[in-house]
Amino acid sequence: MNPSQNTTAMNDRDLTVRVHDRSFRPYIGTDEIDVMVSDIAEKINKDFLGQELTVLIILKGGFVFAADLIRRLRIPVKIETLRASSYGVAMTSNGLIDVEDDFPDLRERNVLIVEDIIDTGTTIVELIKRIGGLQPASVTVAALLSKPEMHRENLVIDYVGREIAPDFVVGYGMDYAGYGRELDAIWVVDTATEEFPES
Ligand code: IMP
Ligand code: MG
Repeated sequence: MNPSQNTTAMNDRDLTVRVHDRSFRPYIGTDEIDVMVSDIAEKINKDFLGQELTVLIILKGGFVFAADLIRRLRIPVKIETLRASSYGVAMTSNGLIDVEDDFPDLRERNVLIVEDIIDTGTTIVELIKRIGGLQPASVTVAALLSKPEMHRENLVIDYVGREIAPDFVVGYGMDYAGYGRELDAIWVVDTATEEFPES
């Protein structure tokens, strides 16, 4: 783990990082992330052997995971991006998602949607619906993390790095209030030091 400047610790157990107005504890280290990404890449290489893939990176959260993932792919790959957001400053989904209108041309392509994390599933369900309407050859989903206890409906995610408890995490592309995406490991909100900022 490579703590950034605003990390404080008396010892390892007390290690926290400050992101915006909250403290976060170490959760998934860089070595484990590495293994998760490599495992997903290996499966994709096998499943799409002899085919071409269009990796559709969901911005902003998916860009770090996607950057590591695509460099482990050994098949011909094209990259597209799409902006989607469902979170404001809060740590819970507001159920509304905002997807950019400017969809890439995905006709006849094997589309792999790359998401950072699946929480309620609202975002991915909406994306699959919209992308499915663009006559792609196939649509699959890779998510680094998933919170199955939060899913609002039965979801089948093709490639998941790890299922986690319904806790709020930051780092490796994922943000809290726009901050923390640059952290190389994944950190979980520290409920022990929970503060209740004025809403
Ligand atoms: P969903 O639509 O409820 O599944 O939420 C998915 C989106 O919310 C993801 O693309 C993330 O951007 C964001 N999100 C969900 N959980 C977290 C989290 O724990 N940390 C940071 N962002 C999250
Ligand atoms: Mg996101």
